[in-house]
Amino acid sequence: MRVVVLASGRGSNLGALIAAQREAEPSFEIVLVAGDKPEAAALRIAEDAGIETLALDPRGYADRARFDADLFSRIAEREPGLVVLAGFMRILDPAVLAPWVGRTINIHPSLLPKYRGLRTHARAIEAGDAAHGASVHFVTSELDGGPVIAQAELPIESGDTAATLATRLLPIEHRLLVATVGLIAAGRIALDSDRVRLDGHALAAPLALRGRTLAA
Ligand code: GRF
Repeated sequence: MRVVVLASGRGSNLGALIAAQREAEPSFEIVLVAGDKPEAAALRIAEDAGIETLALDPRGYADRARFDADLFSRIAEREPGLVVLAGFMRILDPAVLAPWVGRTINIHPSLLPKYRGLRTHARAIEAGDAAHGASVHFVTSELDGGPVIAQAELPIESGDTAATLATRLLPIEHRLLVATVGLIAAGRIALDSDRVRLDGHALAAPLALRGRTLAA
């Protein structure tokens, strides 16, 4: 499966996908890494791996819709089966996104539907939650609100800060994203209106990460 990754920042999830793409069975291929910040480390990681990159500056566009339309027309040229938002810090225009719903996923550092948006680690600690985690979901026009495909949990320990929690969660995010992209590349996951199907069966709850694999 041909995959396009969108990233705005550090690019550690991208790095995990690059490391996994050839070993995955069936394999997937990252054909483009695109972003809205030319200086993003994610773009350097892609270049070092020999992957084509594209940096578009939103300031060069009259509005968000025009930026998103240009971005997704360039994505479409690469004919991807999947678009992965991996730390892409922009909300997508609903009309531009519409034809891509079901083919676009995002990784978010919380157990959705809890804590959409920012400061997820701090908010989980402030709420006194016993567990935190990450979710991979289909992207819809609702911010961090699309159907959840898979989640990974980790306990919050006494003394955890947002920083320590984020550090412990990150490698778990990487495994979660790699496993989810692998299932999609295998053609086993589909979005059916607002439900996620695995092998044709609607999921009653998100898949859960066990080690490196996902279980219903
Ligand atoms: C991750 O925590 C991801 O869940 C969130 O943004 C962060 C991106 O990190 N959406 P990186 O750029 O992949 O290192």
